[in-house]
Amino acid sequence: MTSIGGYFELELLSNEAYHKGALALNTGRNCLEYVLRSRGYKKVYLPYYSCEVLLEPFNKLGVEYSFYHLNGSLELDRLVSLQDGEALLYINYFGLKQDYVTSLTATYGEQLIVDNTQAFYAKPIEGIDTFYSCRKFFGVADGAYLYCLQPLDMELEQDQSWARMEYLLKRIDVSPEVAYADFRTQSKLLNNNPIKRMSSLTDRIMASIDYAGVAERRRINFKQLDEAIGHINGIKWNLTDDAVPMVYPFLTEDVDLRQRLIDNKIYVAQYWPNVLQWCTPADSAHKLTQCLLPLPIDQRYGEHEMNRIIQTI
Ligand SMILES: Cc1ncc(COP(=O)(O)O)c(C=O)c1O
Repeated sequence: MTSIGGYFELELLSNEAYHKGALALNTGRNCLEYVLRSRGYKKVYLPYYSCEVLLEPFNKLGVEYSFYHLNGSLELDRLVSLQDGEALLYINYFGLKQDYVTSLTATYGEQLIVDNTQAFYAKPIEGIDTFYSCRKFFGVADGAYLYCLQPLDMELEQDQSWARMEYLLKRIDVSPEVAYADFRTQSKLLNNNPIKRMSSLTDRIMASIDYAGVAERRRINFKQLDEAIGHINGIKWNLTDDAVPMVYPFLTEDVDLRQRLIDNKIYVAQYWPNVLQWCTPADSAHKLTQCLLPLPIDQRYGEHEMNRIIQTI
């Protein structure tokens, strides 16, 4: 029986989750673990240009993996041929590679795993295992969605996130700089957790988001940057009508630009420092890690902030 009355909880809108038909889990990497377990893959091909936490489920389950290279358009340098029991994982980079994901589906069918952690809004393709991570697009500390036709016969405990969310509040109340250390600590604490169902708190926050408004704001910001600095961007991006980007990926030869942006309090992450250990300077992933600046274009910002970024560049 649910309770009625008494003190209030955090005030949130009660709309709907965006990925209503998906399995709601605790993290993106655990969605991948779920897929590895349910499909029983023996080996998976991964891009060099990826995040090291993707290796966590492989190390945990003892599943073999091998890396592949990308070309200058962040597509497979050459097609990998798969045996039975093997799969290929592709990252829908920055939410801008959905057409390519569709073409890979034609090549690999069900043996494709789509990592949409950078493409929250990209619709899943029927029959293709696809996962998403909430914290890359929204102010939550965890949470992920998975589309997988093969359910796992496993009881999953429900996660609890309330103790993980202090940095989200601190960022508003104190400052991003002060809360940054807590963010780092909490991000590390997401390592090596069992697969769990999404917490009620993350689920409630995810049901309170204005998804259409966020999508529109991200697209407008992206277009503003692209119009102003697209001509000096080392990669030309095509923002298709249904794409909702995570960031504006700006490829530059200017090795000091990242620091100049940070000095101007424009925070750009590095995707992904581990890549510098995994490959040599001659590899495309090495260059992408060093020279690709993921410029913020998210729903917190508008024309004024985009102008600041443009002027700094
Ligand atoms: C490309 C990519 N895939 C998967 C993940 C894992 O997502 P999560 O942190 O929700 O486990 C990350 C980052 O953490 C990522 O950058």
